[in-house]
Amino acid sequence: MENRMDESMIRNRVREALSAQRFEHVEGVVATAARLAERYGEDPKKARLAAWIHDYAREWPVARLRAYAERLQLPAEVAEIPNLVHGPVAAHLAEFEFGVDDPDVANAIRYHTTGRVGMSRLEKILCLADAIEPGRQYPGVDRLRSLAENDLTQALAESFDATIEYLIRRREPIFPGTVMARNALWAEVHARDGAKPQKQDA
Ligand SMILES: [Fe+2]
Ligand SMILES: [Fe+2]
Repeated sequence: MENRMDESMIRNRVREALSAQRFEHVEGVVATAARLAERYGEDPKKARLAAWIHDYAREWPVARLRAYAERLQLPAEVAEIPNLVHGPVAAHLAEFEFGVDDPDVANAIRYHTTGRVGMSRLEKILCLADAIEPGRQYPGVDRLRSLAENDLTQALAESFDATIEYLIRRREPIFPGTVMARNALWAEVHARDGAKPQKQDA
């Protein structure tokens, strides 16, 4: 893969854009995404690149994100939930600021906040790594970590369920595309498992 910036340059620029705590999260996502990539036959370099950049715009003020969302003509359902906007913004900056020319890497960054129907293996890896990197602590994360070793798609489906349940409990808006992504992940799991007996919990 060709990039105009090498990994250490990207890492430095990301570090400058983020708080120490967020940067630590990003480092955790990089390591976890690379490990999942190796486990599931994906290119670890692509996984690391997507992970480095995924939260590049995470700490922008809401007004700046909104203005950028408008410029990118993001759909209203995305633009009105500020937490979702940093994904598409970072995907855009990946191309224009970091010189990323791989659409799969850009899509992994773009969809890490929402998921989508028909996620690629790399998109799944970044999304899951974001949820289970070593700094994450929430009920159920250890189950997701162990499931992630054996079943990328089911681990991500369960992670989406946990996120959606969390948003419901907090009475926060849920992007409809995330529900569709969740349904698609479970459909993939069920289609694959077919007539096999239901898996027991790990
Ligand atoms: Fe993020
Ligand atoms: Fe993140």
